[in-house]
Amino acid sequence: MPTPTGLPGASAGEPVRTLTVDGARVTITGPPHATLLDELRAAGFTAAKASCRRGECGACTVLVGGRAIMACTALAALVSADVTTAAGLGTACDDLRAAFADHAAFQCGFCTPGQVVRAEAVLREDPHRSRDEITRAMAGNVCRCTGYRQIVDAVCAVAQSRRLAMEAGA
Ligand code: FES
Ligand code: FES
Repeated sequence: MPTPTGLPGASAGEPVRTLTVDGARVTITGPPHATLLDELRAAGFTAAKASCRRGECGACTVLVGGRAIMACTALAALVSADVTTAAGLGTACDDLRAAFADHAAFQCGFCTPGQVVRAEAVLREDPHRSRDEITRAMAGNVCRCTGYRQIVDAVCAVAQSRRLAMEAGA
């Protein structure tokens, strides 16, 4: 479990507020303009990747109150709901992780935590999406390695298996 901390340069001994991240209480002591991504990474929650830092790649995607957002576009001071990174999704998305492996949906893996978080949000919102709809819903998450087809294959496979499980009453 990462150690609760703040951003470098924050006022010592003056915690501003706390966030719940992956089930842990984290003290936020960074400046008012600190992004959620900055705070998460400073606190050791490195599953949120820092790449473009301007909302263009999706590498930093996390759930806030169950909704997928790009953490580099959110001011940490304005976040009040629980935050979940890819590392905090737990066993609920073991099927997605397995599908990414089965479909060769990653190579370097840098984008993968953000892709998995986005996919989990997409499937929770509507497990009945078509392949085209899943492709569009995942479009904000960039991958420089795979060419995307494998990622969509993996998400579609999990969508189908979750639909079947729902129909079977599992
Ligand atoms: S690092 Fe946040 S969208 Fe690229
Ligand atoms: S697996 Fe390398 S960027 Fe997506």
